[in-house]
Amino acid sequence: MRATNIVRCAAVLLLGVEFMLLGTQVRAQSDTGKALPAHLANGQRVFLEYCAMCHGDGGQGDGEMAPQLLGRARVRVANLTDRAELERVGASGIRRTISLGGAHTGRSNLMPAWGERLQPGELNDVVDYVLHLPDMGTPVSTATMRAYFDTPPGTPEAGRAVFVHQCAACHGLSAHGDGPLAASLIAKRHVHPRNLTDSSYVATRSDRDLFAVISQGGGPTRKSTYMPHWGGFLTPAQIKDLVSYVRAVSHTRARP
Ligand code: HEC
Ligand code: HEC
Repeated sequence: MRATNIVRCAAVLLLGVEFMLLGTQVRAQSDTGKALPAHLANGQRVFLEYCAMCHGDGGQGDGEMAPQLLGRARVRVANLTDRAELERVGASGIRRTISLGGAHTGRSNLMPAWGERLQPGELNDVVDYVLHLPDMGTPVSTATMRAYFDTPPGTPEAGRAVFVHQCAACHGLSAHGDGPLAASLIAKRHVHPRNLTDSSYVATRSDRDLFAVISQGGGPTRKSTYMPHWGGFLTPAQIKDLVSYVRAVSHTRARP
């Protein structure tokens, strides 16, 4: 029963994918700055065309479809910038998953099989590109920047309402970095949830930096990966509200 639902859901989503491919062609142009060797540049083109709608432009698992997959099928799109996970699976395991899809490699069947949809050269290049994603230094994805620019400023009141539910567990109700999960993060992972009332630190961050770290999490912005990414779960407007809440509790000025 549950399995057939998931299969049906996958079919519906894949139909959606076919439509979205049209939309993502355009994005292949948006790049990360530095010139890539030709095979990686080709891998990036393939990735932006076929993979980014789920995995996100930067591979962080925050593509446009990620919230639907999580909401309807309870499947979290893999974060391909997670070096430890890619190393655990290994180059040949990554290649198998991309080629055969999730269903044949013990993963969710919402990860499609690409072996027969891509040219052999494209498959090789996209596998190589995925293996390079953790080193790519694509700190902030174009989708995140687009969301930042397209969304008007938020309010601290609305930000606080989100904060108490989503952030206080680590950062604490008063945002001092002392939530109920903080002690174990400090003891076991040697990482402190940031004290967001620390004016001198927060003043060094631009609004764009704060928006990016909340959207994409710690990993891609070179912070601890124990700061989760919220891009797929909160709307850009809610993230803007959180930015203005962080400004309010740190008594720092908005700075683009
Ligand atoms: C329809 C959404 C979707 C598309 C499109 C998609 N993926 Fe995935 N992918 C997923 C999901 C969901 C998972 C996680 C499956 C799981 O954990 O059970 C995944 C997992 C993976 C993994 C496994 C990572 C690991 O930790 O083992 C790799 C590698 C991967 N995808 C690469 C790609 C590449 C390359 C493309 C494009 C050619 C692509 N994916 C396109 C949804 C998608
Ligand atoms: C699971 C614990 C956890 C949760 C939940 C969490 N954070 Fe964090 N957050 C962290 C950790 C750990 C750091 C410190 C990362 C570092 O300094 O490397 C951090 C850092 C930050 C920073 C500072 C980033 C910088 O530039 O140094 C901001 C801003 C932030 N979090 C906002 C939020 C917001 C807003 C939410 C809720 C939507 C949230 N966090 C939820 C653990 C968490």
